[in-house]
Amino acid sequence: MPDTSRNDAFVEFERVQKSYDGVQLVVKDLNLTMPKGEFLTMLGPSGSGKTTCLMMLAGFETATHGDIRLDGKPINNIPPHKRGIGMVFQNYALFPHMTIAENLSFPLEVRNMGKSDREAKVKRALDMVEMGAFGGRRPAQLSGGQQQRIALARALVFEPELVLMDEPLGALDKQLREKMQFEITHLAHRLGITVVYVTHDQTEALTMSDRVAVFDDGRIQQLAPPDELYEKPLNSFVAQFIGENNTLEGTIREIKGERCVVQLDDGELIDAKPVNVSQVGERTRVSIRPERVEINKDRLQEGAHTLKAEVLEFIYMGDIFRTRLKVAGNDEFVIKTRNAPDQVRLEPGTQIDIGWLPEDCRALDAPSR
Ligand SMILES: Nc1ncnc2c1ncn2[C@@H]1O[C@H](COP(=O)(O)OP(=O)(O)O)[C@@H](O)[C@H]1O
Ligand SMILES: [Mg+2]
Repeated sequence: MPDTSRNDAFVEFERVQKSYDGVQLVVKDLNLTMPKGEFLTMLGPSGSGKTTCLMMLAGFETATHGDIRLDGKPINNIPPHKRGIGMVFQNYALFPHMTIAENLSFPLEVRNMGKSDREAKVKRALDMVEMGAFGGRRPAQLSGGQQQRIALARALVFEPELVLMDEPLGALDKQLREKMQFEITHLAHRLGITVVYVTHDQTEALTMSDRVAVFDDGRIQQLAPPDELYEKPLNSFVAQFIGENNTLEGTIREIKGERCVVQLDDGELIDAKPVNVSQVGERTRVSIRPERVEINKDRLQEGAHTLKAEVLEFIYMGDIFRTRLKVAGNDEFVIKTRNAPDQVRLEPGTQIDIGWLPEDCRALDAPSR
C-alpha cells in the first residue's frame, strides 16, 4: 500500500524547461505532481520530450530551468546511489557476460550490501517475476520476454521507491506485450511503488495507468485518468491522439453556457459542448467518439439536430459493427454499434439520419494546419 501520510508531491516537476543546444527547448514548461504509489504514464509521439523528462528525473540530465523534486528534495542534491530509483529500458541492458543472478546482484553490490542479504534479495526478485529457476543462465539463453522480466527484477531488486520505465515492452510481440502490461501493473500496485512509465502506445497507456500525461511538442497537453482523457479531451491534439475520433469542422454561431451551436462547413447546424472555444465566429473542430453516435432517433434528446449520412462501408468485427459514413463532407466518419440481436446492419449506399447528445460532441480548437 502507498504511504498515505505523505501522499502528495512525491515527484514534482515545476516549470521545467530543457534545451540540449541552448537554442531549442525540447521540454517547454513542464508541471507535474505525483503522489506516492501512483502509476503515471507519459504518452506522446516520438520526439515529444518523454525520454528527456525521464532522464532529468533520474538525474542523468539536468533541467535548463525549473525544479525537479523527489520526496520534497531537489533531485540535484541527492547523490545517485541515494536516489532509490530503478530503471527499465526497451533494450534490456543486461550484462551479457554475467549470469542472471549476477546481473541482479550487481545493483546491490554497488550499494555495498553483504553477500547473504544480496542472495536473499536476488531470490526474492526472481520469484517476483516468476523466474526463480533461471538464476544460473546468461541473458542470451533467455527469450525476449524472459529478459524483459529480468530487467524488471533488476530494477526492483534494491526495493526502489520510484521506478522509471522507458518503452520497456517495445521490443516484444503483441501477445507477450499485453501479458507483461498486466504483470507490471499488478506488481507495481502490489509493491506500492511509484512508476513513471513512457510509451508512444495509447492502448498501453490507457490500460496500465492511474493517470496519463499526454505529451506533444515538449508540453503536457492533458494530464488525467484514462477514462477522462478518452471521454473529455481538452483539445484537438488529445482527441485525435487518444482512441478513434470523428471530426467535423465549422464555425461557432452561438454560445450559451454548456451548449453551443456550430455551423459546419457544409452549412448544417449542430449542437455541441464548448470546450476549447470561447467566441462566436471562431473556427472549431468538433469531436465525436464513434460509439456515441446514435442512429436510432428515439434515443436522441428532443430538439437535437440530426445530420444526413450516407453509408459507405459496413465492417463486421464480431462483438461490434464498424460502419463508415459520409457526413457533412467527411467520408471517414466512423460509427460503432454493438452486435446485439436487434442491431441493424447498415447497407452501403443507404441514407440515414444520425445524431448524438450535445455533451458527447465537443467543440475544440481548429488546428491551423
Ligand atoms: N542527448 C541529446 N542531445 C540533443 N538532442 C536530444 C538529445 N536527446 C534527445 N534530443 C532531442 O530532444 C527532443 C526530444 O527527445 P526525446 O526526449 O527523446 O523524445 P521522446 O522520448 O518523446 O521520443 C528530440 O527532438 C530529440 O532529437
Ligand atoms: Mg523516448
